[in-house]
Amino acid sequence: MTEPRHTTNNVGTPVASDDHSLTLGPNGPILLQDHYLIEKNAHFNRERVPERVVHAKGGGAFGFLEITEDISQFTKAALFQPGTKTEALVRFSTVAGELGSPDTWRDPRGFALKFYTTEGNYDIVGNNTPVFFIRDPIKFPDFIHSQKRRADNHLRDHNMQWDFWTLQPESAHQVTWVMGDRGLPRTWRHQDGFGSHTFLWENAGGEKFWIKYHFKTDQGIEFLTQADADVLAGQDSDYHIRDLFNAIKSGDAPSWTLYVQVMPYEDAADYRFNPFDLTKVWPHADYPRIKVGRLVLNRNPENYFAQIEQASFEPSNFVPGIGPSPDKMLLGRMFSYPDAHRYRIGANYAQLPVNAPKIPVNSYSRDGQMRFNNPGDPVYAPNSYGGPHANPALAGETHAAYGATDEIVRSAYRLHAEDDDFGQPGTLVRKVMDDAARDRLVSNVVGHLRNGVTQPVLERAFEYWRNIDKQVGDRIADAFKK
Ligand code: HEM
Repeated sequence: MTEPRHTTNNVGTPVASDDHSLTLGPNGPILLQDHYLIEKNAHFNRERVPERVVHAKGGGAFGFLEITEDISQFTKAALFQPGTKTEALVRFSTVAGELGSPDTWRDPRGFALKFYTTEGNYDIVGNNTPVFFIRDPIKFPDFIHSQKRRADNHLRDHNMQWDFWTLQPESAHQVTWVMGDRGLPRTWRHQDGFGSHTFLWENAGGEKFWIKYHFKTDQGIEFLTQADADVLAGQDSDYHIRDLFNAIKSGDAPSWTLYVQVMPYEDAADYRFNPFDLTKVWPHADYPRIKVGRLVLNRNPENYFAQIEQASFEPSNFVPGIGPSPDKMLLGRMFSYPDAHRYRIGANYAQLPVNAPKIPVNSYSRDGQMRFNNPGDPVYAPNSYGGPHANPALAGETHAAYGATDEIVRSAYRLHAEDDDFGQPGTLVRKVMDDAARDRLVSNVVGHLRNGVTQPVLERAFEYWRNIDKQVGDRIADAFKK
């Protein structure tokens, strides 16, 4: 039997009591020399790091990605070669709610993946929806402000949300997803994940392709009704975290089948939709899904703060054979996430075990707060003393000089033949949803609008839905007025 361990302070010195401060007599004043008391309370005051400015509430787990098919004709990335198994971390989240907010509030769900590959970490930071509310990153802070809290009373405000959405009709596709069943997944296990953006893949021969990621749940899609979600929000605000943790703990490892849509590089220029516009999907009839492999989550975190709260996902983490497309949102995000991590976690966030790659890091970045494993001399490149040197032959970066001959402008994307804001959400309402799903959509929207939306925003909201689908718009307006 092991001896019971004694408590120590933070530098390993044994402490005399976990119960009593040092005082002058049992009833006397506390002494400043009780540095253990001070260490405990001072450290406690510093326990929180800032919550994520979006996607604050979430949970996650570890597992692996296994490549079951041969897709090497499209990418040379090591993690996607046939038979490769790569350790993975996934974090699921809601978007607008704060750290303690209910898991079952209507929202897109974050679906953030980190793969610890043999060529460094690769992250796909997606959602359970294939599209997004806006198509230019300059709007992101305004969009999020409209979803968060008012300045005066610190309340969330549906009027503010619909004001923004109806003034930004490019939001229509994502709003239709979120107001439908996908806005309330029953659990994180019962939802799909999407990379959402278009990415660039490059094969060993240097041939380039545009691709989109689809992680299809093997558990099947299931959703909550608004009424069920409302009850759960009160009864168990951590419903989704609990579900994932308990499923994995009981050996019921959830999995997703990974597919990609692949567009030949040359198709992009005159495809009927702008293939880089994040408010659009690529219809499967044009680019069918190609099976790639399987993502399995089979290991719970042992320490939520260390492994989930401090996890840093970044759309800028690419590996050889994968790169960004000219999607303006993706390019904007490539700045935002590492910047957020430097602020939220600290300059050396990439050294934390959950964020560090499983291969050696030979970087010249050094020093900074909380640094350990600091590289030794030589501290500069180039040098004559055996320091690491870059290897251009590895062609570590996959980029496309797409549109690089144009003028510098501030402008919307150049339109493709069938680009418009309401076409694809209209198809979603008419062709993907059945009667029951459309009924729930109407009822969800009416319930949302009744919760504080006033004129002139209200009339614009009816018009917005009529633009998506005349019948659904009329039904929403009629039901609201009854
Ligand atoms: C989290 C910015 C669009 C998915 C975050 C965070 C920031 C951010 C600053 C917090 C990061 C942290 O503190 O760890 C932005 C900006 C966007 C954008 C500027 C648009 C220009 C998107 C889109 C998606 C997305 C389009 C999905 C397709 C996520 C997810 C997280 C997140 C899943 C949580 C990651 C985690 O679990 O740690 N975003 N975001 N974001 N964002 Fe975005």
